[in-house]
Amino acid sequence: MNGPSARLLGVDTLIRIRRDQLGFYADMRGRYGDTVPLRLGPYRSWLLFHPDQIEVVLATKSDTFIRFERMMKVLRQWNGESLFIAEGKSWHDRRRKVLPAFAQRKMPAYEAVFRQVALDWVRRLSDQAQADGAVRLDADETFAQIALDIALRTLFGGGFSEGMDQVSHHIKVLSEVAFRECASPITLPDYLPLQGKRRKKAAMGFMRDLVRRLVDDRLNGPPGDDLLQVLIETHGGDRQEICDDAMSLLIAGHETSGAALSWIFALLAEHPGALSRCQDEVAQTHDVQRMPFLQACIEEALRLFPPGYTLFLRQAKSDVDVAGVPVRKGDLLQIIPFMTGRDPRFFDQPDSFKPERFLSAPTWPFFANIPFSAGPRACTGHKFALKEVSMIAAELLRAFHPRLVGAFPTPEPRFSLRPQGGLPMIWENR
Ligand code: HEM
Repeated sequence: MNGPSARLLGVDTLIRIRRDQLGFYADMRGRYGDTVPLRLGPYRSWLLFHPDQIEVVLATKSDTFIRFERMMKVLRQWNGESLFIAEGKSWHDRRRKVLPAFAQRKMPAYEAVFRQVALDWVRRLSDQAQADGAVRLDADETFAQIALDIALRTLFGGGFSEGMDQVSHHIKVLSEVAFRECASPITLPDYLPLQGKRRKKAAMGFMRDLVRRLVDDRLNGPPGDDLLQVLIETHGGDRQEICDDAMSLLIAGHETSGAALSWIFALLAEHPGALSRCQDEVAQTHDVQRMPFLQACIEEALRLFPPGYTLFLRQAKSDVDVAGVPVRKGDLLQIIPFMTGRDPRFFDQPDSFKPERFLSAPTWPFFANIPFSAGPRACTGHKFALKEVSMIAAELLRAFHPRLVGAFPTPEPRFSLRPQGGLPMIWENR
Protein backbone atom coordinates (compact mmCIF):
# COMPACT_ATOMS: atom_id res chain seq x y z
CA MET A 1 0.00 0.00 0.00
CA ASN A 2 1.61 3.21 -1.17
CA GLY A 3 1.09 6.77 -0.09
CA PRO A 4 2.81 10.13 -0.37
CA SER A 5 6.32 10.46 1.04
CA ALA A 6 6.54 11.21 4.74
CA ARG A 7 9.00 14.06 4.49
CA LEU A 8 9.35 16.38 7.50
CA LEU A 9 7.06 14.12 9.53
CA GLY A 10 4.19 14.87 7.15
CA VAL A 11 4.33 18.65 7.54
CA ASP A 12 4.19 18.93 3.74
CA THR A 13 1.01 16.80 3.77
CA LEU A 14 -0.55 19.05 6.42
CA ILE A 15 0.26 22.09 4.29
CA ARG A 16 -1.38 20.49 1.26
CA ILE A 17 -4.50 19.63 3.30
CA ARG A 18 -4.66 23.20 4.57
CA ARG A 19 -4.38 24.58 1.05
CA ASP A 20 -7.01 22.41 -0.65
CA GLN A 21 -8.47 19.69 1.55
CA LEU A 22 -11.05 18.26 -0.87
CA GLY A 23 -8.61 18.42 -3.80
CA PHE A 24 -6.03 16.60 -1.68
CA TYR A 25 -8.42 13.71 -0.93
CA ALA A 26 -9.35 13.37 -4.62
CA ASP A 27 -5.69 13.41 -5.62
CA MET A 28 -4.81 10.73 -3.04
CA ARG A 29 -7.60 8.40 -4.16
CA GLY A 30 -6.70 8.96 -7.81
CA ARG A 31 -3.02 8.13 -7.20
CA TYR A 32 -3.14 5.40 -4.59
CA GLY A 33 -6.63 3.84 -4.58
CA ASP A 34 -8.80 2.84 -1.64
CA THR A 35 -6.13 2.77 1.07
CA VAL A 36 -3.66 5.62 1.54
CA PRO A 37 -1.08 5.53 4.36
CA LEU A 38 -0.06 9.01 5.49
CA ARG A 39 2.33 10.38 8.07
CA LEU A 40 0.74 13.11 10.21
CA GLY A 41 3.32 14.36 12.71
CA PRO A 42 4.00 11.54 15.16
CA TYR A 43 1.05 9.47 13.87
CA ARG A 44 0.72 6.88 11.17
CA SER A 45 -2.63 7.49 9.59
CA TRP A 46 -4.82 6.07 6.83
CA LEU A 47 -7.30 7.49 4.37
CA LEU A 48 -9.89 4.76 3.82
CA PHE A 49 -12.16 5.09 0.81
CA HIS A 50 -13.80 1.69 0.38
CA PRO A 51 -17.25 1.04 1.93
CA ASP A 52 -16.04 -2.38 3.20
CA GLN A 53 -13.30 -0.68 5.22
CA ILE A 54 -15.72 1.96 6.48
CA GLU A 55 -18.14 -0.73 7.61
CA VAL A 56 -15.42 -2.33 9.74
CA VAL A 57 -14.45 0.97 11.41
CA LEU A 58 -17.95 2.30 12.02
CA ALA A 59 -19.86 -0.91 12.62
CA THR A 60 -18.34 -4.41 12.84
CA LYS A 61 -15.26 -3.46 14.89
CA SER A 62 -16.39 -0.04 16.10
CA ASP A 63 -15.43 -0.96 19.69
CA THR A 64 -11.78 -1.01 18.61
CA PHE A 65 -11.77 2.73 17.80
CA ILE A 66 -12.20 5.99 19.67
CA ARG A 67 -12.45 9.50 18.33
CA PHE A 68 -9.01 11.11 18.22
CA GLU A 69 -8.50 12.58 21.71
CA ARG A 70 -6.70 15.68 20.48
CA MET A 71 -9.82 16.80 18.59
CA MET A 72 -12.18 15.82 21.38
CA LYS A 73 -10.08 17.91 23.77
CA VAL A 74 -10.87 20.96 21.64
CA LEU A 75 -14.62 20.28 21.62
CA ARG A 76 -14.70 19.28 25.29
CA GLN A 77 -13.85 22.90 26.18
CA TRP A 78 -17.50 23.84 25.70
CA ASN A 79 -19.32 20.52 25.09
CA GLY A 80 -18.08 19.00 28.36
CA GLU A 81 -18.23 15.24 28.69
CA SER A 82 -21.39 15.09 26.52
CA LEU A 83 -22.67 12.38 24.19
CA PHE A 84 -20.69 13.97 21.39
CA ILE A 85 -17.40 13.58 23.27
CA ALA A 86 -17.67 10.63 25.64
CA GLU A 87 -16.17 7.20 24.93
CA GLY A 88 -16.70 3.65 26.16
CA LYS A 89 -19.13 3.02 28.99
CA SER A 90 -19.68 6.71 29.63
CA TRP A 91 -20.68 7.23 25.94
CA HIS A 92 -22.95 4.19 26.06
CA ASP A 93 -24.70 5.53 29.12
CA ARG A 94 -25.12 9.00 27.57
CA ARG A 95 -26.44 7.60 24.32
CA ARG A 96 -29.06 5.56 26.18
CA LYS A 97 -30.15 8.70 28.01
CA VAL A 98 -30.25 11.01 24.96
CA LEU A 99 -31.94 8.65 22.48
CA PRO A 100 -35.43 8.91 24.06
CA ALA A 101 -35.38 12.60 23.07
CA PHE A 102 -35.48 11.44 19.43
CA ALA A 103 -38.14 8.73 19.82
CA GLN A 104 -40.88 8.63 17.20
CA ARG A 105 -43.52 9.68 19.73
CA LYS A 106 -41.64 12.92 20.40
CA MET A 107 -41.64 13.93 16.73
CA PRO A 108 -45.09 15.62 16.54
CA ALA A 109 -44.01 18.25 19.10
CA TYR A 110 -40.83 18.99 17.09
CA GLU A 111 -42.75 19.06 13.81
CA ALA A 112 -45.07 21.70 15.26
CA VAL A 113 -41.95 23.80 15.96
CA PHE A 114 -40.54 23.22 12.45
CA ARG A 115 -43.87 24.36 10.96
CA GLN A 116 -44.07 27.45 13.18
CA VAL A 117 -40.48 28.48 12.48
CA ALA A 118 -41.02 28.00 8.74
CA LEU A 119 -44.13 30.18 8.78
CA ASP A 120 -42.44 32.86 10.90
CA TRP A 121 -39.53 33.05 8.47
CA VAL A 122 -41.76 33.08 5.38
CA ARG A 123 -43.64 36.02 6.91
CA ARG A 124 -40.43 37.82 7.88
CA LEU A 125 -38.83 37.37 4.46
CA SER A 126 -42.02 38.26 2.56
CA ASP A 127 -42.16 41.48 4.58
CA GLN A 128 -38.59 42.22 3.52
CA ALA A 129 -39.42 41.74 -0.16
CA GLN A 130 -38.95 44.96 -2.04
CA ALA A 131 -41.23 46.70 -4.51
CA ASP A 132 -40.32 44.13 -7.17
CA GLY A 133 -41.52 41.33 -4.87
CA ALA A 134 -38.05 39.82 -4.31
CA VAL A 135 -35.71 39.41 -1.31
CA ARG A 136 -31.96 39.61 -1.79
CA LEU A 137 -30.15 37.65 0.86
CA ASP A 138 -27.16 35.58 1.85
CA ALA A 139 -29.16 32.34 2.02
CA ASP A 140 -26.34 30.58 3.93
CA GLU A 141 -26.68 33.14 6.71
CA THR A 142 -30.50 32.92 6.62
CA PHE A 143 -30.43 29.11 6.85
CA ALA A 144 -27.96 29.27 9.73
CA GLN A 145 -30.41 31.53 11.59
CA ILE A 146 -33.43 29.37 10.75
CA ALA A 147 -31.62 26.24 11.96
CA LEU A 148 -30.53 28.02 15.15
CA ASP A 149 -34.09 29.22 15.74
CA ILE A 150 -35.27 25.60 15.45
CA ALA A 151 -32.50 24.24 17.66
CA LEU A 152 -33.30 26.77 20.40
CA ARG A 153 -37.05 26.24 20.27
CA THR A 154 -36.94 22.42 20.10
CA LEU A 155 -34.38 22.29 22.91
CA PHE A 156 -35.63 24.97 25.24
CA GLY A 157 -39.23 25.49 24.15
CA GLY A 158 -40.69 28.96 24.49
CA GLY A 159 -38.51 29.81 27.50
CA PHE A 160 -35.86 31.41 25.37
CA SER A 161 -35.71 35.19 25.30
CA GLU A 162 -32.04 36.02 24.58
CA GLY A 163 -31.22 37.99 21.41
CA MET A 164 -30.79 35.45 18.61
CA ASP A 165 -28.12 37.57 16.94
CA GLN A 166 -25.89 37.36 19.98
CA VAL A 167 -26.31 33.58 20.26
CA SER A 168 -25.65 33.21 16.57
CA HIS A 169 -22.49 35.34 16.81
CA HIS A 170 -21.05 33.37 19.74
CA ILE A 171 -21.85 29.97 18.22
CA LYS A 172 -20.14 31.05 15.01
CA VAL A 173 -17.03 32.01 16.98
CA LEU A 174 -16.99 28.57 18.63
CA SER A 175 -17.39 26.83 15.29
CA GLU A 176 -14.41 28.79 13.89
CA VAL A 177 -12.34 28.02 16.99
CA ALA A 178 -13.23 24.32 16.71
CA PHE A 179 -12.20 24.23 13.07
CA ARG A 180 -8.95 26.09 13.66
CA GLU A 181 -7.87 24.24 16.78
CA CYS A 182 -8.78 20.79 15.38
CA ALA A 183 -6.84 21.48 12.17
CA SER A 184 -3.68 23.02 13.69
CA PRO A 185 -0.85 20.86 14.99
CA ILE A 186 -0.18 23.45 17.72
CA THR A 187 -2.66 25.53 19.73
CA LEU A 188 -1.50 28.62 21.61
CA PRO A 189 -2.54 28.75 25.28
CA ASP A 190 -5.78 30.60 26.08
CA TYR A 191 -4.17 32.97 28.60
CA LEU A 192 -2.30 34.85 25.85
CA PRO A 193 -3.69 38.36 25.40
CA LEU A 194 -4.74 37.83 21.78
CA GLN A 195 -7.97 39.04 20.18
CA GLY A 196 -8.91 35.51 19.03
CA LYS A 197 -8.51 34.19 22.58
CA ARG A 198 -10.67 36.99 23.98
CA ARG A 199 -13.43 36.20 21.47
CA LYS A 200 -13.22 32.53 22.32
CA LYS A 201 -13.44 33.17 26.06
CA ALA A 202 -16.37 35.56 25.60
CA ALA A 203 -18.21 33.03 23.40
CA MET A 204 -17.62 30.13 25.80
CA GLY A 205 -18.69 32.21 28.78
CA PHE A 206 -21.82 33.49 27.06
CA MET A 207 -22.96 30.07 25.86
CA ARG A 208 -22.23 28.36 29.19
CA ASP A 209 -24.16 31.01 31.13
CA LEU A 210 -27.07 30.88 28.71
CA VAL A 211 -27.44 27.09 28.81
CA ARG A 212 -26.98 26.97 32.58
CA ARG A 213 -29.64 29.63 33.11
CA LEU A 214 -32.14 27.91 30.80
CA VAL A 215 -31.52 24.58 32.52
CA ASP A 216 -31.89 26.12 36.00
CA ASP A 217 -35.12 27.90 35.02
CA ARG A 218 -36.54 24.59 33.92
CA LEU A 219 -35.31 22.66 36.94
CA ASN A 220 -36.99 25.23 39.18
CA GLY A 221 -40.08 25.78 37.02
CA PRO A 222 -42.84 23.87 35.26
CA PRO A 223 -41.94 21.03 32.82
CA GLY A 224 -41.93 21.57 29.04
CA ASP A 225 -42.50 19.44 25.95
CA ASP A 226 -39.04 19.68 24.40
CA LEU A 227 -35.63 18.03 24.17
CA LEU A 228 -34.49 19.61 27.42
CA GLN A 229 -37.33 17.99 29.34
CA VAL A 230 -36.27 14.54 28.15
CA LEU A 231 -32.65 15.26 29.15
CA ILE A 232 -33.81 16.35 32.60
CA GLU A 233 -35.83 13.16 33.06
CA THR A 234 -33.19 10.74 31.74
CA HIS A 235 -30.27 12.42 33.51
CA GLY A 236 -32.15 12.23 36.81
CA GLY A 237 -31.65 15.95 37.48
CA ASP A 238 -27.80 15.90 37.24
CA ARG A 239 -27.29 19.56 36.32
CA GLN A 240 -23.83 19.22 34.76
CA GLU A 241 -24.82 16.29 32.55
CA ILE A 242 -27.96 18.10 31.42
CA CYS A 243 -26.02 21.27 30.57
CA ASP A 244 -23.33 19.35 28.64
CA ASP A 245 -25.79 17.37 26.55
CA ALA A 246 -28.04 20.40 25.95
CA MET A 247 -25.02 22.39 24.75
CA SER A 248 -23.80 19.62 22.47
CA LEU A 249 -27.25 19.08 20.91
CA LEU A 250 -27.56 22.81 20.32
CA ILE A 251 -24.21 22.96 18.59
CA ALA A 252 -24.28 19.55 16.81
CA GLY A 253 -27.77 20.11 15.59
CA HIS A 254 -27.92 23.46 13.96
CA GLU A 255 -24.82 24.14 11.87
CA THR A 256 -25.20 20.89 9.93
CA SER A 257 -28.92 21.43 9.22
CA GLY A 258 -28.27 25.01 8.09
CA ALA A 259 -25.49 23.87 5.74
CA ALA A 260 -27.74 21.13 4.32
CA LEU A 261 -30.45 23.69 3.49
CA SER A 262 -27.88 25.92 1.77
CA TRP A 263 -26.77 23.11 -0.55
CA ILE A 264 -30.34 22.00 -1.27
CA PHE A 265 -31.33 25.52 -2.35
CA ALA A 266 -28.13 26.11 -4.33
CA LEU A 267 -28.68 22.85 -6.23
CA LEU A 268 -32.38 23.48 -6.87
CA ALA A 269 -31.70 26.99 -8.12
CA GLU A 270 -29.08 25.54 -10.46
CA HIS A 271 -31.49 22.86 -11.77
CA PRO A 272 -34.76 24.50 -12.85
CA GLY A 273 -36.34 21.16 -13.88
CA ALA A 274 -35.87 19.71 -10.40
CA LEU A 275 -36.98 22.97 -8.79
CA SER A 276 -40.24 23.05 -10.72
CA ARG A 277 -40.91 19.37 -9.90
CA CYS A 278 -40.46 20.16 -6.18
CA GLN A 279 -42.68 23.21 -6.50
CA ASP A 280 -45.42 21.04 -8.10
CA GLU A 281 -45.19 18.67 -5.13
CA VAL A 282 -45.40 21.39 -2.48
CA ALA A 283 -48.39 22.93 -4.26
CA GLN A 284 -50.34 19.70 -3.83
CA THR A 285 -49.83 18.84 -0.17
CA HIS A 286 -48.38 20.07 3.12
CA ASP A 287 -47.32 16.55 4.09
CA VAL A 288 -43.59 16.16 3.37
CA GLN A 289 -43.96 12.37 3.43
CA ARG A 290 -45.92 12.75 0.22
CA MET A 291 -43.16 14.70 -1.54
CA PRO A 292 -40.91 11.90 -2.82
CA PHE A 293 -39.06 14.08 -5.30
CA LEU A 294 -38.21 16.75 -2.72
CA GLN A 295 -36.98 13.99 -0.40
CA ALA A 296 -34.82 12.61 -3.21
CA CYS A 297 -33.37 16.08 -3.86
CA ILE A 298 -32.47 16.37 -0.17
CA GLU A 299 -30.76 12.95 -0.15
CA GLU A 300 -28.90 13.83 -3.34
CA ALA A 301 -27.76 17.18 -1.91
CA LEU A 302 -26.50 15.37 1.22
CA ARG A 303 -24.64 12.86 -0.96
CA LEU A 304 -22.92 15.58 -3.00
CA PHE A 305 -22.30 18.07 -0.18
CA PRO A 306 -22.47 16.24 3.17
CA PRO A 307 -22.17 18.92 5.89
CA GLY A 308 -20.07 16.38 7.84
CA TYR A 309 -17.77 16.04 4.82
CA THR A 310 -15.18 14.16 6.86
CA LEU A 311 -15.87 12.24 10.06
CA PHE A 312 -13.87 12.93 13.21
CA LEU A 313 -10.56 11.09 13.01
CA ARG A 314 -10.72 7.67 14.65
CA GLN A 315 -7.80 6.16 16.57
CA ALA A 316 -7.19 2.42 16.93
CA LYS A 317 -7.08 1.18 20.55
CA SER A 318 -5.28 -2.02 19.49
CA ASP A 319 -3.84 -3.70 16.39
CA VAL A 320 -6.71 -4.56 14.07
CA ASP A 321 -7.33 -5.82 10.56
CA VAL A 322 -9.58 -3.39 8.67
CA ALA A 323 -10.74 -5.29 5.59
CA GLY A 324 -7.14 -6.26 4.83
CA VAL A 325 -5.46 -3.07 6.08
CA PRO A 326 -3.00 -3.86 8.92
CA VAL A 327 -3.88 -1.04 11.32
CA ARG A 328 -1.67 -0.75 14.42
CA LYS A 329 -2.58 0.49 17.88
CA GLY A 330 -2.47 4.32 17.87
CA ASP A 331 -2.98 4.69 14.08
CA LEU A 332 -5.44 7.37 12.93
CA LEU A 333 -8.17 6.60 10.40
CA GLN A 334 -9.94 9.12 8.23
CA ILE A 335 -13.33 8.45 6.63
CA ILE A 336 -14.59 11.04 4.17
CA PRO A 337 -18.30 10.94 3.24
CA PHE A 338 -17.65 13.65 0.62
CA MET A 339 -15.41 11.19 -1.27
CA THR A 340 -17.20 7.89 -0.72
CA GLY A 341 -20.49 9.44 -1.86
CA ARG A 342 -18.86 10.39 -5.15
CA ASP A 343 -17.20 7.06 -5.93
CA PRO A 344 -17.71 6.33 -9.66
CA ARG A 345 -17.78 2.58 -8.96
CA PHE A 346 -21.05 3.01 -7.07
CA PHE A 347 -22.63 6.19 -8.43
CA ASP A 348 -23.31 6.84 -12.09
CA GLN A 349 -22.11 10.39 -13.01
CA PRO A 350 -21.03 10.83 -9.38
CA ASP A 351 -20.49 14.59 -9.50
CA SER A 352 -23.87 15.34 -11.10
CA PHE A 353 -27.09 16.23 -9.31
CA LYS A 354 -29.39 13.32 -10.19
CA PRO A 355 -32.09 13.07 -7.51
CA GLU A 356 -33.82 10.27 -9.47
CA ARG A 357 -31.21 7.84 -8.12
CA PHE A 358 -32.95 8.11 -4.74
CA LEU A 359 -36.42 7.31 -6.12
CA SER A 360 -35.74 3.57 -6.27
CA ALA A 361 -33.87 1.07 -4.09
CA PRO A 362 -30.17 2.00 -3.61
CA THR A 363 -27.77 0.47 -6.14
CA TRP A 364 -24.74 1.31 -3.95
CA PRO A 365 -23.37 -0.37 -0.81
CA PHE A 366 -24.88 1.08 2.37
CA PHE A 367 -21.55 2.41 3.66
CA ALA A 368 -20.87 4.33 0.44
CA ASN A 369 -23.38 7.06 1.26
CA ILE A 370 -23.15 8.10 4.92
CA PRO A 371 -23.98 11.79 5.42
CA PHE A 372 -25.15 10.95 8.97
CA SER A 373 -22.33 8.44 9.56
CA ALA A 374 -23.43 4.89 10.43
CA GLY A 375 -23.12 2.23 13.10
CA PRO A 376 -23.48 2.70 16.87
CA ARG A 377 -22.13 6.30 16.79
CA ALA A 378 -24.29 7.47 13.91
CA CYS A 379 -26.06 10.81 14.21
CA THR A 380 -28.86 10.66 16.79
CA GLY A 381 -30.59 13.58 15.06
CA HIS A 382 -30.80 11.87 11.63
CA LYS A 383 -34.60 11.59 11.39
CA PHE A 384 -35.14 14.87 13.23
CA ALA A 385 -32.83 16.64 10.75
CA LEU A 386 -34.44 15.12 7.65
CA LYS A 387 -37.88 16.19 8.86
CA GLU A 388 -36.64 19.65 9.80
CA VAL A 389 -34.89 20.24 6.50
CA SER A 390 -37.78 18.95 4.38
CA MET A 391 -40.42 20.96 6.24
CA ILE A 392 -38.41 24.19 6.03
CA ALA A 393 -37.54 23.60 2.37
CA ALA A 394 -41.17 22.81 1.48
CA GLU A 395 -42.58 25.96 3.09
CA LEU A 396 -39.92 28.21 1.57
CA LEU A 397 -40.37 26.68 -1.89
CA ARG A 398 -44.13 27.23 -1.61
CA ALA A 399 -43.57 30.92 -0.88
CA PHE A 400 -40.50 31.80 -2.97
CA HIS A 401 -38.76 31.07 -6.24
CA PRO A 402 -35.01 30.92 -5.44
CA ARG A 403 -32.37 32.14 -7.88
CA LEU A 404 -28.59 32.13 -7.48
CA VAL A 405 -26.73 35.42 -7.79
CA GLY A 406 -23.53 34.53 -9.62
CA ALA A 407 -21.97 31.14 -10.14
CA PHE A 408 -22.70 27.92 -8.24
CA PRO A 409 -20.70 28.14 -4.99
CA THR A 410 -17.48 26.27 -4.33
CA PRO A 411 -17.63 24.00 -1.26
CA GLU A 412 -15.44 25.27 1.54
CA PRO A 413 -14.41 22.85 4.29
CA ARG A 414 -14.98 24.61 7.60
CA PHE A 415 -16.28 22.80 10.67
CA SER A 416 -19.12 21.87 8.28
CA LEU A 417 -19.01 22.01 4.49
CA ARG A 418 -20.28 25.45 3.51
CA PRO A 419 -20.60 27.53 0.35
CA GLN A 420 -17.46 29.64 0.05
CA GLY A 421 -18.24 33.33 0.41
CA GLY A 422 -21.84 32.62 1.47
CA LEU A 423 -24.80 31.97 -0.80
CA PRO A 424 -26.07 35.17 -2.39
CA MET A 425 -29.56 34.56 -3.74
CA ILE A 426 -32.69 36.34 -4.87
CA TRP A 427 -35.96 34.82 -3.69
CA GLU A 428 -38.95 36.04 -5.67
CA ASN A 429 -42.38 35.94 -4.07
CA ARG A 430 -44.53 33.31 -5.82
C1 HEM B 1 -28.42 17.59 8.14
C2 HEM B 1 -28.15 17.60 9.43
C3 HEM B 1 -27.14 16.72 10.12
C4 HEM B 1 -26.06 16.04 9.60
C5 HEM B 1 -25.59 15.97 8.16
C6 HEM B 1 -25.42 15.36 10.72
C7 HEM B 1 -24.30 14.55 10.61
C8 HEM B 1 -23.70 13.90 11.66
C9 HEM B 1 -22.53 13.06 11.53
C10 HEM B 1 -21.78 12.78 10.24
C11 HEM B 1 -22.22 12.59 12.77
C12 HEM B 1 -21.08 11.66 13.15
C13 HEM B 1 -19.79 12.41 13.35
C14 HEM B 1 -18.63 11.44 13.56
O1 HEM B 1 -18.82 10.38 14.13
O2 HEM B 1 -17.52 11.75 13.17
C15 HEM B 1 -23.21 13.13 13.70
C16 HEM B 1 -23.23 12.87 15.05
C17 HEM B 1 -24.15 13.42 15.92
N1 HEM B 1 -25.21 14.24 15.58
FE1 HEM B 1 -25.72 14.87 13.74
N2 HEM B 1 -26.11 15.65 11.86
C18 HEM B 1 -27.17 16.46 11.55
C19 HEM B 1 -28.11 16.96 12.43
C20 HEM B 1 -28.17 16.69 13.77
C21 HEM B 1 -29.20 17.18 14.67
C22 HEM B 1 -30.39 18.04 14.23
C23 HEM B 1 -28.88 16.74 15.92
C24 HEM B 1 -29.58 16.96 17.23
C25 HEM B 1 -30.58 17.76 17.44
C26 HEM B 1 -27.65 15.98 15.81
C27 HEM B 1 -27.00 15.37 16.86
C28 HEM B 1 -25.87 14.58 16.74
C29 HEM B 1 -25.20 13.94 17.88
C30 HEM B 1 -25.61 14.06 19.34
C31 HEM B 1 -24.13 13.21 17.35
C32 HEM B 1 -23.12 12.39 18.15
C33 HEM B 1 -23.64 10.98 18.35
C34 HEM B 1 -22.68 10.07 19.10
O3 HEM B 1 -21.49 10.34 19.12
O4 HEM B 1 -23.15 9.07 19.65
N3 HEM B 1 -27.25 15.97 14.49
N4 HEM B 1 -24.09 13.93 12.99
